[in-house]
Amino acid sequence: MCGIVGYVGAQQAAPILLDGLTRLEYRGYDSAGVAIYDGAELKVAKAKGRLQVLSDLIQGGAAIPGTVGIGHTRWATHGAPSDVNSHPQVSRSGRIAVVHNGIIENYAALKQFLVDQGVPFASETDTEVVAQLIEYFYHGDLLQAVGRVLHRIQGAYALGILCADCPDQLIAVRRDSPLILGIGAGENFLASDVTALIRHTREVIYMEDGELAVLTREGIQCYNHFLQPVDKEISHVDWEIDAAEKGGYEHFMFKEIMEQPQALRRAVFPRIRDGEVYLEDFGLSDAYIRSLRKIYIVACGSSYHVGMVGKYSLERVLRIPVEVSLASEFRYRDPIVGEGTLVLVISQSGETLDTMAALRQAKKLGAQVLSIVNVVGSSIARESDVVLYTWAGPEIAVATTKAYTTQLAVLDLLGLYFARRLGTLEEEEYHAILQELLLLPAKMEQVLEHREDIQYYASQYFNHDSVFYIGRNLDYALGLEGSLKLKEISYIHSEAYAAGELKHGTISLIEDGTLVVALATYDALFDKAMNNVVEVKSRGADVLALTTQAHREAMETLASGLITIPDTHPMLLPSLGVVPLQLYAYYVALMRGCDIDKPRNLAKSVTVE
Ligand code: AGP
Repeated sequence: MCGIVGYVGAQQAAPILLDGLTRLEYRGYDSAGVAIYDGAELKVAKAKGRLQVLSDLIQGGAAIPGTVGIGHTRWATHGAPSDVNSHPQVSRSGRIAVVHNGIIENYAALKQFLVDQGVPFASETDTEVVAQLIEYFYHGDLLQAVGRVLHRIQGAYALGILCADCPDQLIAVRRDSPLILGIGAGENFLASDVTALIRHTREVIYMEDGELAVLTREGIQCYNHFLQPVDKEISHVDWEIDAAEKGGYEHFMFKEIMEQPQALRRAVFPRIRDGEVYLEDFGLSDAYIRSLRKIYIVACGSSYHVGMVGKYSLERVLRIPVEVSLASEFRYRDPIVGEGTLVLVISQSGETLDTMAALRQAKKLGAQVLSIVNVVGSSIARESDVVLYTWAGPEIAVATTKAYTTQLAVLDLLGLYFARRLGTLEEEEYHAILQELLLLPAKMEQVLEHREDIQYYASQYFNHDSVFYIGRNLDYALGLEGSLKLKEISYIHSEAYAAGELKHGTISLIEDGTLVVALATYDALFDKAMNNVVEVKSRGADVLALTTQAHREAMETLASGLITIPDTHPMLLPSLGVVPLQLYAYYVALMRGCDIDKPRNLAKSVTVE
């Protein structure tokens, strides 16, 4: 949500800012703007709508010359999307400009204070309060003024600040909202996401909460909350630029679906050595693992759905109770996190605010926190006791695909690693699962090769206004993700139900022509799944079934449409089963003409509550 880019150097700033903001478009936004120092004053250009509107307004940047500037894509929180509420927000003199991600929680009281001092406000935003307050405290030393403001504002924020009185520098501030500094030669950058920087530099500094930084052409100096200088580690970003480009595909989502076998290879192969699971820098001792009494999985959205699969699979192989909790619920429910409880946090972005808050709460309660995260150096990764990266590479489409499958794979590896230490899996089964994990990318490739079958079914059913996903056990967990994929990008109402629950109410919704996606991959419950298919068919439903090769024949006679996946170990079925569901959602959305990579009202990373 929202994007920040800043540049100071010798090149023209505006085109660099526009390009950086384009790379952040995927995060979701409703307006955009830039502020550039043109040698005499700050020039600000802002526009509601797509970045193209802003770009046209400033002729691709040519209309605002200058070599230092800040840019922003805004997702409205305080004040409707409009030109005036867009960022940068400026102080009353127009000499201080601020871009901001996050929320200033006490902005109303601060605004009232400033209004009482006679400060006029132009926008409804909380961000304008920051710009005005900096000016209020500014008496020739910008860093001091920003420091004073930070002691007064509460909430989550990443800030980029530019002042016409010291136009050779940018100030960056971070608290609970990501901000990364990029180091170039004779130029430096700031951005809320590494994808905005990668074309210019791979050397980055991850700011910590409460830190400030002053960027000039010559260098970057970071400071702590008390404005004392701090030395920072420089990290190297090693993924390729292509990873964040469409590379000939029409949509990032499709590209990322197709990338899954390769992403799985990266996540899994280096972690299996000589027939054993190897987890890098794994900070949990065998004694600790043996003392475990309960595992909490905490996450949001699709990452939560990975947790739902994890509940079934981890309980099966570890014989330890696993409770899955939505992060937004966990944080307000006074969770019982005692001795012997491991909190497992799952997040693609590593920046989801609710998940972050749950992590902090779990740590406060004394739990060890292990996270499964995709974005390297993200807040959740840095604050966890142990982090396992999914190595899926940048995921740009709002609807997650490769992050989901790699999260599942890492969770499977973790389950096997724990099971080995707990002695809860027979040697033979342990090796059988490992073997299947190694075969998973190739089996996934087979599923992807048959994508035209799924495209055909999408063409048959894309007009249904309501779809039900039903399944039992792992198939139920899989249905939750299939249903979310469909609704978020095609805007079709859909629900996932545990098939055994149908009779307890939902079946009343089934009528002639209702589409039911029946998930029947789990061998142990296949007969029950068949019964549910018969049940909904006899009420007139169209049934699109998903099953394994082994059950193809049995299902063929019943379902109106049938998708099969290769046989594998039950624990890994959701990893294969989700691929046709992703493709199905994709093709349906394509046929309905939806904005697949940037679905309405959604942002890639939800950094507000
Ligand atoms: C999935 O397609 C979604 N866009 C969304 O549910 C996402 O999984 C959720 O917001 C959690 O994000 P995270 O994994 O980055 O924490």
